[in-house]
Amino acid sequence: MKNVFILTGAGISAESGLKTFRDTNGLWENFKVEDVASIEGFIKNPKLVHDFYNHLRPVMDKAEPNAAHLAISRFQQLLQNERIYLVTQNVDLLHEKAGSFNVKHMHGRIDECVCLQCHHVIKTDKDIAYNMPCPACGSHALKPNIVFFGEMPMFMDEIEQQLKTCDIFIAIGTSGVVYPAAGFVATAKYYGAETYLFNLEGCQNNAYFDHVILGPASETLPPFLDNLDK
Ligand code: APR
Ligand code: ZN
Repeated sequence: MKNVFILTGAGISAESGLKTFRDTNGLWENFKVEDVASIEGFIKNPKLVHDFYNHLRPVMDKAEPNAAHLAISRFQQLLQNERIYLVTQNVDLLHEKAGSFNVKHMHGRIDECVCLQCHHVIKTDKDIAYNMPCPACGSHALKPNIVFFGEMPMFMDEIEQQLKTCDIFIAIGTSGVVYPAAGFVATAKYYGAETYLFNLEGCQNNAYFDHVILGPASETLPPFLDNLDK
């Protein structure tokens, strides 16, 4: 029974109609990262940042998981929790909608906001504004619970541990340009894992992948996972 580490990026949600970041017409083509995905940008113009995520929230809510999400969920049900560690860079909840559980959102989630004052995390499916009082401490410092550039991604201790002990490392729909996620494959490989990339095109950290399977993840991933020797 193998330990499997799965890392997903925006590309797995592309066929569900959600924009990626760096493809043509990606999110970073129409918004400057430093304006809407950095702490400095948030402090400078919290309204712009809230508007950006308030616009994204209903779009993500409406999206449905595709065959790639469903294949991971099937695989997870089969292997059960102890054998598969699922990390996503995505803030959408399509893995959960597909039936996956224990999804580690290392860059946060669109359905939460956090108080910069007391760090209380609040579930939200509505628009949030900077001047909304924190229900826990009353201060007006609510931010989307999304990891901005310059902030520490979540679950890093656990992730490090899992990378050292996994037998198979699978990255799906990620360009491999943003660290620390882009470095996960090197760690997994160093500790002896067999590494797979499922992507539309090769990515920057290609060299660390033993297998690169190009094509839309909804077509390439299901047959692979459904037949992977458990
Ligand atoms: N199937 C498989 N791969 C796809 C598909 C698809 N249908 N569509 C696009 N891709 C691939 C693209 O080729 C690209 O390499 O998905 C990748 C998406 O790359 P990015 O847009 O850079 O997204 P990601 O790697 O998740 O970005 C990482 O950067 O801006 C930050 O926090 C943000 O989590 C994000 C991080
Ligand atoms: Zn608070």
